[in-house]
Amino acid sequence: RKDEITTIVVFGASGDLAKKKTFPALFHLYKSALLPPHTRIFGYARSDLSRSEYEARITANIGKSDKERACIPGFLNICSYIRGQYDRDDDFLTLRREIEAKEDVMLNDAACDSSVAATSNSSSSGLSIDSSCRAGRNKRVFYLALPPSQFVSVARQIKNNVYDPKHYNRLVIEKPFGHDLESSSHLCQEIGTLFPESEVYRIDHYLGKEMVKNILVLRFANVFFQAVWNKEHISNVQIVFKEPFGTEGRGGYFEGVGIIRDVIQNHLLQVMSIVAMETPNSLDSEDIRDRKTEVLRHIKPVELDQVLLGQYTASKDGSKPGYKDDDGVPKDSNTPTFAQMVLHIDNERWRGVPWVIKAGKALDAAKVLVRIQFKEKSGNVFPDLARNELVVQVSPKEAVYMKTLVKEPGLSTNLTLSELDMTYQSRFEGISIPDAYSTLILDVLNGDHSNFVRADELEEAWRIFTPLLHRIERENVQPQPYAYGSRGPEGADEFAQLRAGYKMPEIDYHWKPVSPT
Ligand code: BG6
Repeated sequence: RKDEITTIVVFGASGDLAKKKTFPALFHLYKSALLPPHTRIFGYARSDLSRSEYEARITANIGKSDKERACIPGFLNICSYIRGQYDRDDDFLTLRREIEAKEDVMLNDAACDSSVAATSNSSSSGLSIDSSCRAGRNKRVFYLALPPSQFVSVARQIKNNVYDPKHYNRLVIEKPFGHDLESSSHLCQEIGTLFPESEVYRIDHYLGKEMVKNILVLRFANVFFQAVWNKEHISNVQIVFKEPFGTEGRGGYFEGVGIIRDVIQNHLLQVMSIVAMETPNSLDSEDIRDRKTEVLRHIKPVELDQVLLGQYTASKDGSKPGYKDDDGVPKDSNTPTFAQMVLHIDNERWRGVPWVIKAGKALDAAKVLVRIQFKEKSGNVFPDLARNELVVQVSPKEAVYMKTLVKEPGLSTNLTLSELDMTYQSRFEGISIPDAYSTLILDVLNGDHSNFVRADELEEAWRIFTPLLHRIERENVQPQPYAYGSRGPEGADEFAQLRAGYKMPEIDYHWKPVSPT
């Protein structure tokens, strides 16, 4: 709406997350004309940055093309920087004054816009700030690109000094949301005393990824998937996350976290809940989150004997360091950088279907995918040479393909394994898939909670992993070594076959993505 004004405050504006993700996403929305017309962005941090230092930071990861570069001055025009501590009333009161001053300017502009749009015979009073204009229409988005130790203090300062009940106030926070069930519940409670759940947006950036969002559509907009999406037809499901690089400089952070907290308890479990959830009553965000939470409630806590843990060592040729060579990692660290595990969902749709989650750093490939393997067909006209598989590739190249048996072309009557392939780059020529953060920030601006993690959902996610995490730590479980750049620790390749009944095709098969013509 033309008469709407929006203020976005990025706390931690001098930090890495803001530089790499938040500001590039805001810029992307700006250049695509997706920020509301009257928007002002404030960076807030403790660092003493000059205007040019601030500008250099927030534009460090944007401006790759001429077209982008042309938009930078306009973007910088709506960005301000305020230096302040995270726990000082005075600094937050200064922030409030700055916000209000800019809001007044925006309200004037907005009033001007709407008076021009409304009628040409309106009086000049149309340009003055109508107090009702402040009420209700304006948004203040507070984006905490901060370490969790600052969440509560900053949320409290915002609530005491910058929050305005006449506005739409939205608080955006990023993982980690606690360290286990208890700490996460505590954090939720503290934030909950300051902001109602309807104003909290917990980012899990996997929920903003194109193919993760697509799972809902694939499942619920296509009759053939709907019909077979259950234990009668599906043998096992694998969710795989492989990164070809190690912690490389992030060892200090990773040491206190490990791969389960880093990507499994959040990103991959979120993906699993969307693949497994029941049909929502509507596309309303609470209906979707109800269904996701419900399915999590049916997942049993993961047992240690259902888990394979690994930690990478130097690459075989010695060119890449091991995890323990990273700064901040103790030489006797047992932190897993790889984990593979079996989960079970105890409900009517999925009882008996094993779900394998595999995640690792410093592996042989960059890949995130969901692989749904179907059961053998019934009837025996053709031999069971391979099972059908539906693969949703989240990254690096978005694709959906179904491994399918077909007749070998030509005079032969043999079967061969091929695929029904929808590789995005060839199917949707010239598309550019937005970064997850742009999508999610747009959702915040639109007040759409569907792709954010609700408090009860988070609690369920921790319930599933907390006993396992505590046991690993208490018993100091040793991860198995694997070389940087390998396929993971010994046993990783056979894990899905032995523990989840995954069946390899009997014919040689490699997926070849369709290339654009
Ligand atoms: C982050 C983890 O949340 O997700 C990182 O902390 C991981 O360790 C990253 O590399 C993966 O995200 P993406 O978008 O690169 O797949």
